[in-house]
Amino acid sequence: MTDITSQTEAALAAIAAASDLDALEAERLETLGKKGWVSLALKTLGGMSPEERNAAAPAIQSARASISEALDARKAALEAAALEEQLARETIDLTLPAQAAPRGSVHPVSQVMDELAEIFADLGFAVATGPEIEDDWHNFTALNMDETHPARAMHDTFYFADKTTDGKDVLLRTHTSPVQIRAMLDQGAPIRIIAPGRVYRSDSDATHTPMFHQVEGLVIDRDIHLGHLKWTLETFFKAFFEREDIVLRLRPSYFPFTEPSVEVDVGYSNEGGRRVVGGHGDAPGHAWMEIGGSGMVNARVLEFAGLDPAAWQGFAFGLGIDRIAMLKYGMNDLRAFFDGDGRWLAHYGFSPFDQPTLSAGVGARA
Ligand code: PHE
Repeated sequence: MTDITSQTEAALAAIAAASDLDALEAERLETLGKKGWVSLALKTLGGMSPEERNAAAPAIQSARASISEALDARKAALEAAALEEQLARETIDLTLPAQAAPRGSVHPVSQVMDELAEIFADLGFAVATGPEIEDDWHNFTALNMDETHPARAMHDTFYFADKTTDGKDVLLRTHTSPVQIRAMLDQGAPIRIIAPGRVYRSDSDATHTPMFHQVEGLVIDRDIHLGHLKWTLETFFKAFFEREDIVLRLRPSYFPFTEPSVEVDVGYSNEGGRRVVGGHGDAPGHAWMEIGGSGMVNARVLEFAGLDPAAWQGFAFGLGIDRIAMLKYGMNDLRAFFDGDGRWLAHYGFSPFDQPTLSAGVGARA
């Protein structure tokens, strides 16, 4: 008994005197370690009679508790002191060149979204946003696709199991067009917005991924017509691809939310195994590539969004951001966009300092 008491006192004194973590660890091994005297004393309990054990155990247990507590407290104190000392000793040299640090890069999709916003801002468009988890009213119904509309089936929609509190289906938005509805309901008319963002469809191959990016455009005013749409797209693509010989082809098409509807193709040629935008798609060595849909906003959609179709009209477009990024920066496989492979990003990524500006060039590479 006295033995344990004095041994414990000696251990507590040694712990208090431990001047660093190594010395403390040595003390821990000597007491609570596998071969430490406290552990060995605990083991002897197993061989005792119940009476002997009842007599001996409390002293050993309390020795273990007080030593363990003292070890923890001293450890915390020593660690705090070490941190203080390290903070006092270390300084950061802000004048060191940044190249010494590992370099992250901006994903081409982010870069292209910044480029889009820059170009459209110059044309007077504000950026609008909406949720990626949408309800079917905004994603479909208000865009003139009621429950039975066949176009709903074409979208390969991801639905959630639960409905909204007011009984609407919940889904991952299949296009950025619901932002048209939200923006008109929020801001009324006139309006001039773009809405870049993620969209989702259950679809996957070299040119389709279950998540991809679109940019929606919407212009509503008194006398907007198809000519404005064509001019806006042409002006945008000239600025985006930084060349003047962009030729667009507008093909009659169908979307429930636009009337008339046109699909937009851009002329390109194959140069050195790479698609390069520019020139007339019907010229020798050229072809057309589809880059999006557009049209005059359907009067029904204006009504759903609370606008009077007798007073307001306008156009909308939806472009595939990943597609135009591939065209501009020469990537072939869309799936690589979302693999998160550091080598791909190092190759195709952009420096955070390479901010797209109209004055410096929206396509400048670092
Ligand atoms: N939302 C359509 C799509 O994803 C594209 C589109 C947008 C068409 C705006 C017309 C007007 O396919």
